[in-house]
Amino acid sequence: MGILDRTIANSVAVIPRPVVRRISRRYIAGDTLEEAVAVIRDLNARGCVATIDLLGESTESKADAARTLRDYKRVVEALEEHDLRSGISIKLTGLGLNLSEELCRANLEEIVEYAGARGRFVRVDMEDSPYTSVTLDMVTGLHERHGNVGAVIQAYMRRSLEDVNRLAEAGVSVRLCKGIYDEPRRIAYKDFDTVRENYRLLLEELLRGGVYVGIATHDEFLVWHALRLIHQLEIPKDRYEFQMLLGVDEELRNILVNAGHKLRVYVPFGEDWYEYSSRRLKENPKIA
Ligand code: FDA
Repeated sequence: MGILDRTIANSVAVIPRPVVRRISRRYIAGDTLEEAVAVIRDLNARGCVATIDLLGESTESKADAARTLRDYKRVVEALEEHDLRSGISIKLTGLGLNLSEELCRANLEEIVEYAGARGRFVRVDMEDSPYTSVTLDMVTGLHERHGNVGAVIQAYMRRSLEDVNRLAEAGVSVRLCKGIYDEPRRIAYKDFDTVRENYRLLLEELLRGGVYVGIATHDEFLVWHALRLIHQLEIPKDRYEFQMLLGVDEELRNILVNAGHKLRVYVPFGEDWYEYSSRRLKENPKIA
């Protein structure tokens, strides 16, 4: 990252919200569910599947968590009503994890059951490190009763190799990403190349481990390594998919779709767009 990019990345917090909104519009499907439905319909027509994320990261009361649960049920209903090829992605803090583990577990089970009854998969996003263990425990526990729930592993976390092996043993589907939060070096790799190498290692463990893998990256070097592993290990098409964020590198997305790989686009929508947009902007200040 050059000096100008780094300066922008470090100053995202002081960029006025309307400016953040304007430059990050490409990452968000819109404020409303109707807008998200239209975006997913278009993605489906282009040969992509989707996973839909209802934006919103601070849950201050049980009522907030209940609202998130209710809104996600509406999302699942809309996917069904419009016959869209899409699952959902959900953050446990949105379901009340910061309030009570019991409450969160009950909310998660409710949405997983609701989605499962309608043939939908629930991917539990991974948030920052205070939530890593509890998130993986909850997903693994629930997976014993419901097959339609999966986890996310961040390649920058030093613990991830152990986590990957545990999830593979339990047969839990994993989305593998690099990781987006600012974690301390004590627990996370900070060097770009080391994170890449760890991603390669974890991906190989997952593919060899036999679980369904979501290869979530726009890093062409890693996409190439994934394609190499898929080829060398003779991984069948029903055991993996590529995943990319809405608004990022549509050219690479088309290359993978045209080559016959399943590709899922992460589609965030909602009025609470600020936190998500700030993270995307820090990741790629060039668009500013
Ligand atoms: P890298 O950041 O090196 O980017 C590779 C290239 O992609 C860049 O050179 C640039 O061309 C392009 N690019 C990347 N980000 C861009 C952006 N914002 N705008 C424009 N171009 C961009 N993280 C997490 O901690 N928990 C989670 O649950 C998830 N979930 C998730 C789902 C999906 C489907 C994806 C694709 C990613 C996530 N992430 C995530 C985010 C992930 O951890 C990571 O921060 C981003 O994917 C960026 O990392 P890359 O692997 O793409 O590499």
